[in-house]
Amino acid sequence: MIEVRLLRPNDERKGFCSGNPDLDRFFILYTGQNQFRHHIGTTYVAIEDDRIKGFVTVSSSSIEVDNLPISRKKRFPQYPLPVIRLARLAVAESDRGRGVGLYLLRSVFYLAYEMSKKVGCIGIVVDAKPDSVDFYTRYGFEKIEVLQGALADRPEPVSMFLPLSVISLTMNTKAL
Ligand SMILES: CC(C)(COP(=O)(O)OP(=O)(O)OC[C@H]1O[C@@H](n2cnc3c(N)ncnc32)[C@H](O)[C@@H]1OP(=O)(O)O)[C@@H](O)C(=O)NCCC(=O)NCCS
Repeated sequence: MIEVRLLRPNDERKGFCSGNPDLDRFFILYTGQNQFRHHIGTTYVAIEDDRIKGFVTVSSSSIEVDNLPISRKKRFPQYPLPVIRLARLAVAESDRGRGVGLYLLRSVFYLAYEMSKKVGCIGIVVDAKPDSVDFYTRYGFEKIEVLQGALADRPEPVSMFLPLSVISLTMNTKAL
C-alpha cells in the first residue's frame, strides 16, 4: 500500500532516481534544508515497503488576477491571490505508471482544499515540464500566462492553474 506523508529529517533520500538528474538532485540536496531550516516549502513523499517511490514539493504562493484564465477571473480583487505552488513532482523511474504520481497530486489537492478553509487558497499553480502537460491537463489544469518567479528551466515550462472549484468537486465526489 502506498502512503503519502510529510518528509522526515531521517528519510533516506540518497539513491532516489526519477531519471531526471535535476529533480533527483533537488530532492536529495535541497528538500530537507528547504523544509526544516528555511521553511520555504514542504515535501511529501510516497512510501511503499519503506521505500520512497516519489515526492512532491509545495509552497505557498500567489497569483495576480490578470494571470488567471479568463473564465476563472470572477470578481476577484486586484491584489495577489493565495495559491499553492506545486514546485516539483517526480516518481521513481522504476515505479512509473502505477498511480504514484496521482497519489501525490491528490495529496496536493487535499492541501489546497484545507488551506482554502483555514487561510485562503484559490487553487494550485504549477510550472509543468512540457512532457507532463498532458498529465496535469487530464486532472483539470489549464494553461495560463507565465508566472513571475517561474524556474529558468529548459525546455521552458508551461504554467498551469487548477481552480479550487475543480478541486472541491473531486474532494466532494472522491472522483479521483
Ligand atoms: C509525470 C509523473 C509524475 C507521472 O507519475 P506516474 O506515477 O507515472 O503517473 P500515474 O501512474 O499516477 O498516472 C496517472 C495517469 O496519468 C497518466 N500519465 C502519466 N504520466 C503522463 C504524462 N506524462 N502525460 C500524460 N498522461 C500521463 C497515466 O497513464 C495514468 O493514466 P490512467 O489512469 O488512465 O492509467 C512521472 O512520469 C514523472 O516523474 N515524470 C518525470 C518528472 C516530471 O515530468 N515531473 C513533472 C514535473 S512538472
